[in-house]
Amino acid sequence: EKEGYEHFMIKEIHEQPKGISETLMRRLDKEDNIVLDGIKLTNEDLENINKIYIVACGTAYHAGLVGRFAIEKFAKIPVEVDVASEFRYRDPFIDEKTLFIAVSQSGETLDTLAALREAKRKGARILSIVNVVGSSVARESHDVFYTWAGPEIAVASTKAYTTQLTAFYMLALHMATIKGNMDREQYLQILKELKTMPEKAQSLLKDFAEIQHQAAGHFNNESVFFMGRGVDVHVAHEASLKLKEISYINSFAIAAGELKHGTIALIEKGTLVVALATQDRLYDKMLSNIQEVRARGAYVVAVAKEGNKEIEKTADVVLYIPDTMDELSPILSIIPLQLFAYYVAVARGTDVDKPKNLAKSVTVE
Ligand code: F6R
Repeated sequence: EKEGYEHFMIKEIHEQPKGISETLMRRLDKEDNIVLDGIKLTNEDLENINKIYIVACGTAYHAGLVGRFAIEKFAKIPVEVDVASEFRYRDPFIDEKTLFIAVSQSGETLDTLAALREAKRKGARILSIVNVVGSSVARESHDVFYTWAGPEIAVASTKAYTTQLTAFYMLALHMATIKGNMDREQYLQILKELKTMPEKAQSLLKDFAEIQHQAAGHFNNESVFFMGRGVDVHVAHEASLKLKEISYINSFAIAAGELKHGTIALIEKGTLVVALATQDRLYDKMLSNIQEVRARGAYVVAVAKEGNKEIEKTADVVLYIPDTMDELSPILSIIPLQLFAYYVAVARGTDVDKPKNLAKSVTVE
């Protein structure tokens, strides 16, 4: 069922334009209103909510971080995000005015399920973003937003993540309009851009020669670190997780502004740094961070928006993504980095679809 692909992971990376499109288009009516499968989120419901908790594990947690950014920015509701295994044990402040959003591809992750039960017991409204229809998380939620990624077989999550991002953008836009925090014009403008994501994601899948080349040149690295600012930090964390779980290279991610507060001590000649610089507002700041690490000998692979050519002077290599709104860039910027992780793992000869010590769904603590 790999349909000619060498691994499920690369097949699923290629299925992202379709997954994003299904997740989005199935919920738009003819007037471009978002219709959320009967999810009950009226103005009155939102008036009664003073806080949102997003809780998940691993990649789904990384999607939640982008979700917080979108909901706070568009809908202007305060959001906290936590990993389920921490949330459960820290006596979070939850009551009937809390909206709890669980994010899970499988819908069977034990910590996420336990956190959901705890929140429900304390009276929170439970909304889940789930891929597997009828899974435990879905069954125990008040409302479910299904991602239409289709079955995800590879242990490393790819298409579930980009469809979770799509789900969050839609929820954020929906909440923003209900609350009256966004006028129709702005809503339509963002939605129009969201609708271009499948096509833009597709264009990123056509040309991966440079990524393969970089992967071939760096597959023997002992460590890699990722950095970014704004919403790019969250993508940096997801890209780093992808690389480490399938290639077994020691990788981590930081907010680029934190460089000087410690991590810069690690930079030596040849250290590989992947720098995300897709945010217009933070672009100059990222250029200085790239200069700081390069001055100490780092080799920098940057991810930037098409058209931002100055970065070529600062980074060693630039992987471009199509131009888009800053807020929506995570759907695109993760794709070259999923491909990078994949080709590094292939070059290292690891079991890409079933990395050692990992299970597709973690049903134990
Ligand atoms: C990483 C990965 C894991 C899962 C995590 C949560 O590529 O797949 O980090 O994201 O185990 O799983 P779900 O989403 O099924 O709850």
